[in-house]
Amino acid sequence: MASHAKIIIDEKEIELPTIVGTENEIGVDISDLRSKTGAITLDVGYKNSGSTTSAITYLDGEQGILRHRGYAIEELASNATFLEVAYLLINGELPKNEELTAFETNISRHTLVNEDMKNIFNAWPTGSHPMGQLIAMISSLSSFYPESLETNQTEHTKQLNVFRLLAKMPTICAMIYKKSLGHPFVYPQNKLDYVSNFLNMSFKHVTEDYTIEPVMVDALNKLLILHADHEQNCSTSTVRLVGSSNANLYASIGAGVAALWGPLHGGANQEVIEMLERIKNDGGDVSKWIDKAKDKNDSFRLMGFGHRVYKNFDPRAKIIKKACDEVLNKLGINDPTLEIAKKLEENALKDPYFIERKLFPNVDFYSGIIYRAMGFPVEMFTVLFALGRLPGWIAQFNELRSQKQPIGRPRQIYTGYTFRHFVKRGDRK
Ligand code: CMC
Repeated sequence: MASHAKIIIDEKEIELPTIVGTENEIGVDISDLRSKTGAITLDVGYKNSGSTTSAITYLDGEQGILRHRGYAIEELASNATFLEVAYLLINGELPKNEELTAFETNISRHTLVNEDMKNIFNAWPTGSHPMGQLIAMISSLSSFYPESLETNQTEHTKQLNVFRLLAKMPTICAMIYKKSLGHPFVYPQNKLDYVSNFLNMSFKHVTEDYTIEPVMVDALNKLLILHADHEQNCSTSTVRLVGSSNANLYASIGAGVAALWGPLHGGANQEVIEMLERIKNDGGDVSKWIDKAKDKNDSFRLMGFGHRVYKNFDPRAKIIKKACDEVLNKLGINDPTLEIAKKLEENALKDPYFIERKLFPNVDFYSGIIYRAMGFPVEMFTVLFALGRLPGWIAQFNELRSQKQPIGRPRQIYTGYTFRHFVKRGDRK
C-alpha cells in the first residue's frame, strides 16, 4: 500500500502524502505542490483527478461494481423502494420501519407546489424543452422558500429544504409533461406512494379514471433507483462546485440539472431513442451505423455506448436490459427499436473498435425503450433521469457542506499572449 509519493520537477524532489480509501483506492495529495514547486497538475476533463473524498457511492469501473453506502446496486434495485434508497443515500443507513414511515410522511406533506408556480408555466412557449423548464423551476423554489438562501441554516431548515425538494420534484416533472400536452395539471394525491403519485400526476386525465399499473410502478421504481447516484460525474460535480460557493440547495441542484441535460451525459437517453428510430427508418442496417460511429471524419457516435469510468460493463445497463424485456412483455408491447438495440449491442461488442476502447452499453442504452413503453415522450427522458438522480445530488450537497470544503476553483495553464500594450482604435492594423 502506498504511504507516500515522490515527484521530481527538474532537479527538485518533493514528497507528497497519499490517502487510501476504504476500498484501497490510492490518491496522491497534491495540495502543497504549487507552494513547494510552483507547478500545478493538468488533467483536462478530470480523467484522473479526485475532487473530494466521499462516503456515499463506491464505483469500480474495471469490475463493474456500483454500491451505495456499501449496498450493491443489484440488491437495492431488486428489493428497495426509491425512497428507501433516497433515505440511505442522504442519511447513510437503511431506515428502520418507523424512520422510513416518518421520511415518507414528511415528503408527502410537501408535494403541492405554490399556485404561483403555474404563472411561470404559463410563460413558457409551447414546445419548450422540458429540461430548460426543470432547471428554472427548481431554481425558482429558492424564491418561494427564501429561508433556503440563509447561509447559517438551522438543522430544521436544512431538512425542510430537502423534504420540499424531494416532494415537489415529481409534481414539477409531471406539470412539465402536462404543459407539453396542453392539458390541465393533476394535483398530487398524498395517499399514493412516491412513484404511483408521479405516474398518476403524469398520466391521469382529469376527465377520466386512471388505473396505476403495478408493472409500471415496479419498473419506474427500479429505473429511479438505478439513477439515484453515481459519485463524481459531471452533474454531481456541478452541484458540488456550485454548492461550494455557498449557493443554496435549489440553485446548486438546478445547475446540476443543466449539466445533466447534455447529450454526453443524461441527455443521451433521448438521443438513443432518436438514433434507434433513425436506424429503423433507414432500413435497420446496424453495421452501416457502427461504421459511421467508427469513422473519425463522421461526428456520429453510438449514443448509449461508452462510459468515462466503466471499462468492463455498466452494472446498471445489465439490470435495465433485463427489465426492458420484462416490462415490454408484461405490457404486451412489441417495440422494433428493442430488436435494433439488441442487434446493435451484439454487433458492437464483437467489433475490435469497441473492444479495444472498452465501449459497452451504458445506463441510457435501454432505459428510453422502457420510458417510451410507459408512455413518456422522448423529451421527458432526461427529466426522468433527473428525478432519479435527485437524492444523490442532495446527499452529495449535504456531504460537501458537512466536509466544510473550500470553494472549488481549478487552476489553468495560460497559453495566450504575453504582455502587450493597448493600441488605440484608429491605430489598429
Ligand atoms: N461511439 C463511438 N466511439 C466512441 C464512443 C461512442 N459512443 N464513446 C467513445 N468513443 C471512442 C472515442 O472516439 C475515443 O476514440 P479514440 O481513442 O480513437 O479517439 C475513445 O472511444 C474514448 O472516448 P472518449 O470520448 O475520450 O471517452 P470519454 O471518457 O471522454 O467519454 C462518454 C465518455 C460517455 C462521453 C463517451 O463514451 C460518449 O460520448 N458516449 C456516448 C454518449 C453517452 O452515451 N453518454 C451517456 C453516458 S452514461 C450516463 C451518464 O451517467 O452520463
